[in-house]
Amino acid sequence: MTEKVVLAYSGGLDTSVAIGWIAEQTGAEVIALAVDVGQGGEDLETIRTRALACGAAAAEVVDARDEFAADYCMPALLANARYMERYPLVSALSRPLIVRHLARVALETGADMVAHGCTGKGNDQVRFEAGLAALAPDVRVTAPVRDSGMTRDKAIAFAAEKGLPINVTSRSPYSIDQNVWGRSCETGHLEDIWNAPQPDVYGYTSDPAAGLPAEEITISFASGLPVALNGQPRTPLEMITDLNRIAGAHGIGRIDMVEDRLVGIKSREIYEAPGAMVLITAHSELESVCVERDLARFKRLAEQRWTELVYDGLWFSPLKQALDAFVSQASRHVTGDIRLTLQGGRAVVTGRRSPAALYDYSLATYDSGDSFDQQLAKGFIELFGLPAKISADRDRKLAG
Ligand code: ARG
Repeated sequence: MTEKVVLAYSGGLDTSVAIGWIAEQTGAEVIALAVDVGQGGEDLETIRTRALACGAAAAEVVDARDEFAADYCMPALLANARYMERYPLVSALSRPLIVRHLARVALETGADMVAHGCTGKGNDQVRFEAGLAALAPDVRVTAPVRDSGMTRDKAIAFAAEKGLPINVTSRSPYSIDQNVWGRSCETGHLEDIWNAPQPDVYGYTSDPAAGLPAEEITISFASGLPVALNGQPRTPLEMITDLNRIAGAHGIGRIDMVEDRLVGIKSREIYEAPGAMVLITAHSELESVCVERDLARFKRLAEQRWTELVYDGLWFSPLKQALDAFVSQASRHVTGDIRLTLQGGRAVVTGRRSPAALYDYSLATYDSGDSFDQQLAKGFIELFGLPAKISADRDRKLAG
């Protein structure tokens, strides 16, 4: 018998209806948990009040924006994380944080079940449930939309029948998920992948063609983490928020892609991540100055694996943890400043400086002051090309 269920609550139609739906199905008390990861919109108190009005026995709201920025977005930045070389893991990063809080509240309240509002077609259900299996293995999971037929039509009928305080008519035609790191938008006309996105899909960025004058910014990093913007110290949350505003005005960070979901479906997604994309551009540029060649080459492989693990919902897996240790060791010397020009949807690096640079002017220069001994190159190339030369000789001999 289930007595208490902790529900990941957003304040929207589905999870508002889920409160009463789960209570009817299980006879349990429902505890609503709303987590602020910077999605904007309504304030937490409004959401808390609505949860109680929809029948929650208790409602907890958590402002987790700083935690999200520092403990989830920053590791993603260190890994330059972009799934399929494009998507900076916006939604995939918030799920493990929500999972942590769900597990905590379940433990604190003695709840034996956790609920989420995901469908059975997406990645988020996997992220919630694989995460919960790692952090709260004894807690069962229910997903009313997926498991007990809570379709949209039924949810609307349920809300009307119970007189729930939710405005069902003001719903967007899109499925949107927002947080500090970015914004995901899908469904509606986007499901025809030939359709160009209509302007109303965008929320974090202005039209890149609006013709704003170019803007120059400098981002300072210490051991891979951004610490100052134009010389002013910033927390991770402040840094991302400021850059979302500044780069968003230039239309930077729009991504229109067809993505491979873990469940096997290809889906069309429109992402906006102005701050994230500027930070990743600057961060990887600084790495190219400060990280030794072999380490940099290997890090690119590790980054891709890290990104796939996180996309696939395995934030709490041992490989992901071990890769975090590698990434943080590899980031030790990524310290310095990157200057960028923002304009017309693009962030272009124009300058780099670092006390830990491996760039050596005297080795690189073609002017006077060159310290590189060009005579050494000749012998190096001879030995470097030797295996290929020998086997090409062999191939010619056998062919002839
Ligand atoms: N496809 C993305 C992902 O799996 C975004 C999903 C966001 N959810 C949404 N309701 N739009 O990370």
